[in-house]
Amino acid sequence: MRMKSGRHWNIAIVGAGKVGTVLGRLLVENGQRIACVVSRSESSARKAGKFLKCKRVSTSLDSIPPTIDVIFISTPHGAIRTVANDLARLENLEFARLSACHASGMLTADALEPLRRRGATVFSFHPLQTFPRDFEPRDIVKSVRGIYYGVDGSLAALKMAKLLARKVGGKVIEINPEMRAFYHAACVVASNHITAMLSILESMFQTLCTTEKKFYPVFKPIVNATLNNIEFTSPTKALSGPVARGGVETVADHFASIEKYRPDLIPYFVSLSLETLKLAESKGSVKDVQAAALRTLFQSYLKKDSQLQVKH
Ligand SMILES: NC(=O)c1ccc[n+]([C@@H]2O[C@H](COP(=O)([O-])OP(=O)(O)OC[C@H]3O[C@@H](n4cnc5c(N)ncnc54)[C@H](OP(=O)(O)O)[C@@H]3O)[C@@H](O)[C@H]2O)c1
Repeated sequence: MRMKSGRHWNIAIVGAGKVGTVLGRLLVENGQRIACVVSRSESSARKAGKFLKCKRVSTSLDSIPPTIDVIFISTPHGAIRTVANDLARLENLEFARLSACHASGMLTADALEPLRRRGATVFSFHPLQTFPRDFEPRDIVKSVRGIYYGVDGSLAALKMAKLLARKVGGKVIEINPEMRAFYHAACVVASNHITAMLSILESMFQTLCTTEKKFYPVFKPIVNATLNNIEFTSPTKALSGPVARGGVETVADHFASIEKYRPDLIPYFVSLSLETLKLAESKGSVKDVQAAALRTLFQSYLKKDSQLQVKH
């Protein structure tokens, strides 16, 4: 018996961490019922149960009701295959009616193969959003409304993934299973690299020692305008600055001051300046002779930096 899209689903969350609790909350907000929360520790299961208006909380997979419609596995990715194996061993689950998915960005639907073999519909369902460890679920919920979910699975499973995405108010993006790691690396650029870049900006601001204490209010307008320009045009069109203009002397002065005050940032500046130059070339805003001079400049700093690394 396959699930009807219109009726309410009974959903079990396995792994009551940030992702499980936040997605569970979106399901509840959208009229779905969390029938069961299972986690490794009772305290996490209880805390999530309270937030998700779910009384059946447990540390055992046996507590999942036999007629459950969807099992959402939101354990750390290292535990997903074990959980799938353990679920597949349960005698009472009605596998033919069951859909099961996991939240890992790295794993494909194959991680749930033991459940598929029992007759369940399986798919990956990776929320393309950041769920920082130090944030409470209630503070993350807002940022998860309307996001994309990276999915893969059979045609029937993809249909289920789309229905589930609709039930959390989101959309799906189908990921070729062979490119799963590449997809996850792209997500890393979107969140972790931007965070690392802003952390570099914060540390450069501290090196400047200005009268302002916090870096973000000072840079927020330029950061936001850049993101807006990209959203409404493209990275190529939004690019401005000395590399895009072919300003060799200005860029050389930047590198000299970085070398003086923050030599640790030279590798970062070389690699991002090279990428900026490629973008400028695709835009046609830099002359060949300027591009060649910039490449020579970057390479000279890279060489100096690697000689320094060898000495240390
Ligand atoms: N964090 C992100 O930004 C993010 C974004 C997208 C996708 N994801 C993916 O989402 C999944 C969950 O990530 P998260 O950030 O929510 O992790 P998390 O906060 O560490 O939560 C994982 C939860 O799983 C529970 N757990 C661990 N092993 C278990 C097991 N064998 N059985 C049942 N429960 C178990 C933990 O239990 P206790 O607390 O009970 O000990 C914990 O509450 C991961 O696959 C991750 O790759 C994460």
